[in-house]
Amino acid sequence: MSTTAQIGVTGLAVMGRNLARNFARNGYTVAVHNRTASRTRDLVEEFGHEGDFVPAETAKDFVAALERPRRLVIMVKAGAPTDAVIEEFAPLLEPGDMIIDGGNAHFADTRRRERELREQDIHFVGTGISGGEEGALHGPSIMPGGSPESYDSLGPMLEKISAKAADGAPCVTHVGPDGAGHFVKMVHNGIEYADMQLIGEAYQLLRDVAGYTPAQIADIFRTWNTGRLDSYLIEITAEVLSHVDAATGKPFVDVVQDQAEQKGTGRWTVQIALDLGVPVSGIAEAVFARSLSGHQELREASRGLAGPKAAPLGESEAAAFADRVEQALYASKIVSYTQGFHEIAAGSDEYDWNIDLGKIASIWRGGCIIRAAFLDRIREAYDARADLPSLLSDDTFAQEIAAAQDDWREVLIAATRQGVPTPGFAAALAYYDALRAERLPAALTQGQRDFFGAHTYRRTDREGSFHTLWGGDRSEVTA
Ligand code: 6PG
Repeated sequence: MSTTAQIGVTGLAVMGRNLARNFARNGYTVAVHNRTASRTRDLVEEFGHEGDFVPAETAKDFVAALERPRRLVIMVKAGAPTDAVIEEFAPLLEPGDMIIDGGNAHFADTRRRERELREQDIHFVGTGISGGEEGALHGPSIMPGGSPESYDSLGPMLEKISAKAADGAPCVTHVGPDGAGHFVKMVHNGIEYADMQLIGEAYQLLRDVAGYTPAQIADIFRTWNTGRLDSYLIEITAEVLSHVDAATGKPFVDVVQDQAEQKGTGRWTVQIALDLGVPVSGIAEAVFARSLSGHQELREASRGLAGPKAAPLGESEAAAFADRVEQALYASKIVSYTQGFHEIAAGSDEYDWNIDLGKIASIWRGGCIIRAAFLDRIREAYDARADLPSLLSDDTFAQEIAAAQDDWREVLIAATRQGVPTPGFAAALAYYDALRAERLPAALTQGQRDFFGAHTYRRTDREGSFHTLWGGDRSEVTA
């Protein structure tokens, strides 16, 4: 067995296989291994001409095929299967070797695995990889965590196989130590859920309020995709909406069951945000919208509930309404990203990751599911001011929202009048209005807490904590 492979990939389902091919196509010698050996053979048979593959049937052969320090990529299901593969390979490795987990692992698992393997002097590099099957093959956006030393060794290879942004910059950076890469990938997915939900709401409004057909809405999305909403998700939305079901001749979107599924990364984004105390209401609404859609019995039981009787818009008003929806979608999108970046900043503070937010925006510009022209603007905002308190504090975004807000509100009024659910748009606007409010009813909440539980409150005019003797003479005491 020759020890010439610069990198190895174990787990050759479609993501692993495509990633291995991407390395090989970029001139690297790639050792390939899979639990079921036939998959390894199939890969080499089908794609062997694309580059240098070293097929390995056993874990031992696989490890022996790698040059040192070894770079071993595992592409298996997150959770127990990842632990099982680590347990199988770790005893075969030597100090300085690297295990790169390219799955959608929970960052807390990544932190644990990194800690455990560090004791053996093995670098564990939890790595977010976005872009689906096509991205893995042609260039994904890559979010590696782990030690800086491991990035010194891996970085150049990852830069080579990654997507390149429009300015040629590779869509990969060392995100930060231990679980930072998987954390950022998790938030990427949360933002992905929010983007998809907002696009879904825009579609529903164009259909139910403006009366457009799916094919017409596809054209509207195509037009939007030439402007500031230019993004992969808008582009594929137009493709999905214009697709006609061959069996029935109906729009494809009308023959698909309206129950959205999820594998869980969006849910994690919200769970972790709750722990960190970061309001990611737009992302949360996107997760809840998926779960609501799946409650089929509850929805059946609720079908007869009363709704409004407003008529859809006439043809003459529809085009103007579509323009307003574009404004509402763009403004809501700014809010989703504001919330997502806030969560990354909070995670970075909590775990001392020192994440460069501008860099994250930069590596999301190409290859990943949320890639969008808009991310270049976010990069600029953070490059201009690394300690930006929020994206909404950036002058350009603030001005754009100022210009969009009347339409944003009008769209929500129309949605409410018509009874079209728009939880993403509404949550985004509520977040915006709450942040800019002079006073919030949180003061009343504090009063109520103090009334029923003596939980105390702080005053606007003096330092300290206070309690009012609600059951007595209602005088105030220092707590
Ligand atoms: C990516 C995607 C990917 C994710 C799918 C499905 O960045 O390539 O985020 O990692 O698995 O989008 O996610 P759900 O099944 O949870 O919708």
